This record gives sequence, structure tokens and C-alpha cells, in this order.
Amino acid sequence: MPTRYAHIIGWGMSVPQQILTNEDLSRMVDTSDEWIQSMTGIRERHIVGPRESTATLAVEAGVQALITAGVPARKLDLIIVATSLPEFLMPSTACLVQDQIGASNAAAFDLLAACSGFPYALSVASQMIASGAYSNALVIGSETMSRLIDWSDRSTCVLFGDGAGAVVLQANEKPGGLLSFALHADGSGGDLLMIPAGGSRMPASLETIEDNKHAIVMNGRGVYRFATRVIVAGIREVLEKAGLALNDIRLIVPHQANRRIIESAAKDLELPMDRFVVNIDRYGNTSTASIPIALCEALSEGRILPGDNIVLVAFGAGLTWAASVIKWVSPAPKKRRQIPLTDRIFTRARSYARRTRRNIEGIIWGKNE
Ligand code: UT7
Repeated sequence: MPTRYAHIIGWGMSVPQQILTNEDLSRMVDTSDEWIQSMTGIRERHIVGPRESTATLAVEAGVQALITAGVPARKLDLIIVATSLPEFLMPSTACLVQDQIGASNAAAFDLLAACSGFPYALSVASQMIASGAYSNALVIGSETMSRLIDWSDRSTCVLFGDGAGAVVLQANEKPGGLLSFALHADGSGGDLLMIPAGGSRMPASLETIEDNKHAIVMNGRGVYRFATRVIVAGIREVLEKAGLALNDIRLIVPHQANRRIIESAAKDLELPMDRFVVNIDRYGNTSTASIPIALCEALSEGRILPGDNIVLVAFGAGLTWAASVIKWVSPAPKKRRQIPLTDRIFTRARSYARRTRRNIEGIIWGKNE
């Protein structure tokens, strides 16, 4: 048992304003609202505009999490951004976030575990805090899945959406935060869900673009079978590691890939659906962002209270899967303070960063200095 714990003391989310409905999609490809809703549970998803990106969403979610936590950016020791589509191949998106929010003392790196990225990153940051190395960490899941999609492929384009979610972790001597975790991989299933080109094997070329090799290719049935198996196994494993039973868990926050996958897990675990957070209807599959977005919504709805145990569980490309048990410690702020993030224009990042920083410092100055 660690003598230091990593409490989640802040949380935030950001989704683009633009919404793409199933009706919209049915005018783009041969699909229907009826098929999408009955096969996946999705009604609509948020899609980035031309001047939004993985980094802009990550900054907004990160800033909201810092405000909820009351932690100034300069006190951060660590930023991890879990993402399937970083802003650039390099530098990391975490470094862009670090610069924009003014976290001048933070180490920063990206973590790639596809849709399992958030619980992976949360476990890494929590362990670094538990070891005594760091005291304050910002963990973000941010995605622009709409930029990885072949919009003429009906089998994938209806599934995904864009968004970001973030949490702030802080060292504390009192038990709480991450109680147990499980991180897994099975690389033999890598071809079930992948993006063939743009990496070392197949660098971008006219040919890769003409052959449409930069979009997600998925064996949906294969991933579905894998997901329904590991989601249940992952939950059982982390409960056993934490010495807890299902009855000790208030809420399960699963990766939002398909409502039917969550229903299958509920059936196998003999739990009612209201013990799971499900918001896939409004966001689609936002990969690494789906769990922190669902967490934020559950908190704002009062579904998680201090003292509750919750389970996070995810699965995705790699193949990877991950789960964690968290003892919730922080009360939700009575009135959520919003900062006016009016300018989302990433090309004006420096002035944006200055304003954002001034806002954070201004709002929380009285609380922390
Ligand atoms: O984060 C992890 C990432 N991914 C996942 O978790 C995805 C996991 N997989 C799934 O959720 C499901 O496999 C899907 C929802 C993607 C698909 O469901 P399925 O039961 O595996 O359907 P299928 O791919 O076998 O397709 C069934 C039928 C096919 O038609 P035929 O061959 O039976 O005539 C497809 O062509 O549905 C057709 N179809 C569609 N029809 C209308 C596939 N996509 C669509 C569509 N609209 N968008």
C-alpha cells in the first residue's frame, strides 16, 4: 500500500460546438438514424471546426480541471496527454498544453494506448505521485477522431466523435484516489483496429493518400467480441486487487464505444444499467476522452459523491484494455466557475495562452496564495 495517494481534485471537459446528427450522416453515406441508434446507441456527436484541434480541446479541458482543483498551472509537476491523434507527430501535444497554460515546472509527454489511454495515463500519473516523485499532475484525454475517419466508410464514420476530458491529481496522505489498476495489451490483435499509413512503415505519400490509407480501418465484429470479454474481466480484476466487491461500487464509468457493449457487461455482471454511466448517445466514441467526459457529466449530475468507489474501464486498439478502482474524495464545487474561453483559435495560441493563464491565476489567486 502506498503511503501517498493521488486524489482526483479537479476535472473538466471540452467538446466542439458543431454537432453532427445521424440524420446528417444519412445524407452523406448509405445509413440511417434507425440503424445507428439500434446498433450503437449513438444519436449525435461533436465534430471539430477548421480551427480546433487535439491541443485546443486539451487546453480547454485542462484549464477547467485546474480551476475546479484550484491549482495554478505553475504548480503542476506533470502533464500526460493520452491521445490517438496528437497535434503533431512531434512535439508532443502535452508540451503544447504545457506551454499554453503556463505550466513551466511540469514534465510533459503523450501516451498512446488508443481508447484505453485515459486509465493508462491515470495509473502512470498516480504511481508517480504515490512514489513521492511528483505532487500535482494533469491527465488529459483529447481526441479529434473526425480527422482520422474515412467519411465515405459507413462502417466507421458513424461511430466516432471529438472531445476532451481532464483531471488534476494531487498527493495526499489520506487513503483515496486510485485504489487499484490493471493495464493490459495483446499486440497480436493490432490489425483489428488500425491506421495503416503516416508512420514509419508507410510514410505519407501521394500514393497513401490516393489509396486512402490514413483513415481508421476496423474489424468491428472482432473488436466487439474482444471488448465484451475484457470489459468484464477488467472490472473483476481491479475489484479483486482493491479487495472490493461489486456491491461496494457506486458507479462504473466505461469507455463509450457502443451501448450494446455496456449492456452486455451489465448483463454478465448482473448489474442494472443505472450503475453505468452512458452518454454515447450525445458524443459517440471519443476514444481517450470518453471516460473523463463521462466522469465530468456523472459528477455534475451528482451521481458520484465523496466516499464513493467507482470503476473506470476501457478497451481499444493495440489491442489494449485497462481498468481502475477510484475512491472519490472531492466534493463537486457548489457553483462551477467558468472562465471565458472565447477565442478557440489555435493559430493565435500565444495570446490565448496569456489570457488563459491570467484568468486561471486571477480566479484562483485568492484561494491559493
Ligand atoms: O473504441 C473501440 C473502437 N471500436 C469499437 O468498439 C467497435 C466495436 N464494434 C461494434 O460496435 C460493432 O461491430 C459495429 C456497431 C461497428 C457494427 O455492428 P455489427 O453487428 O458488427 O455489424 P456488421 O459490421 O457485421 O454489419 C452488419 C450489417 C452489414 O450489412 P450486411 O452485410 O449484413 O448486408 C453492414 O454492411 O450492417 C451494415 N452496416 C451498416 N448499415 C447501415 C455497417 N455499417 C452500417 C451503417 N449503416 N452505418
